[in-house]
Amino acid sequence: MFPILSKKILGPNVKQFVLQASAIAGKRKPGQFVILRIDLNGERFPLTIADTDVGAGTITIIFQEVGKSTFQLGTLAEGDAILDVVGPLGKATEVENYGRVVCMGGGVGVAEIYPVALAMKQAGNEVISIIGARTHSLVILESHMKQASHKLYVTTDDGSYGFQGLVTGPLNDLIADVNKKVDRVFCIGPVPMMRAVANTTKTAGIPTIVSLNPIMVDGTGMCGACRVKVGGETKFACVDGPDFDAHLVDFDLLVQRQRMYHKQEKLSWEKWKGIHENRIS
Ligand code: NAD
Ligand code: FES
Repeated sequence: MFPILSKKILGPNVKQFVLQASAIAGKRKPGQFVILRIDLNGERFPLTIADTDVGAGTITIIFQEVGKSTFQLGTLAEGDAILDVVGPLGKATEVENYGRVVCMGGGVGVAEIYPVALAMKQAGNEVISIIGARTHSLVILESHMKQASHKLYVTTDDGSYGFQGLVTGPLNDLIADVNKKVDRVFCIGPVPMMRAVANTTKTAGIPTIVSLNPIMVDGTGMCGACRVKVGGETKFACVDGPDFDAHLVDFDLLVQRQRMYHKQEKLSWEKWKGIHENRIS
């Protein structure tokens, strides 16, 4: 069992848990994730490790409540425990001194880009970060991102905070600045965002890494659920990724496979909600 040591609400339907998981904390590197199973009948689902405290033996996970399992996770409280937390899984992000890097996080993807930005800064890169959300209340980890970056841009779609517009706005401005070359872009967020960033940086010839989030089951390369196509080859995101060259990713297939169980997910969510409506906060 993995006890929940603290629970924090970061925004509407966005929650953060600090879990006691010393073996995972001791081994985890930026970009890696865990697979959780809340209880014996639970679905297995992946969440990126947003942070670790090796001394305290803890890991931090941040999640958005979008369906049955994530809403169920959100009903747990400090002192409760999660049955299974397996990890760290996946290949770590390749951290080097690339020069000037742009780290981009969209929505709850900011939780995943934060450890990457931090590692890039520690490796000596000049880190410029761009984080975006639909509206101010959905902007998460702004102070963490500020610390992990030399410069931070915040965007909101509705203009309620920071720059109005999408994360690609500041990216276009940075690319247009001929005096300051961007050496690499790291981007984590919803698929339309990763696709838009990939299109922009491909034209500009800037190497770009995205972290893919297909459906996962075992997380160890055995079930094939996380199959993605990159550069015309089939890859398993759980063991070959989750990081991939953004310019080679087949985003159409990713979207198609993410929606594969949409009907069943909706049914499962509606059934669970019907029974547990009063537990949702
Ligand atoms: P969202 O749709 O609110 O978008 C967040 C931000 O991304 C927007 O504010 C905007 O700046 C940017 N964005 C979105 N579409 C864009 C486009 N077409 N062009 C340029 N920029 C765009 O995101 P959300 O609802 O908070 O995110 C939830 C989604 O993110 C879920 O689908 C979830 O699966 C995914 N997600 C992915 C990862 C990952 O590892 N890739 C991690 C966490 C969440
Ligand atoms: Fe099963 Fe990747 S989740 S192969």
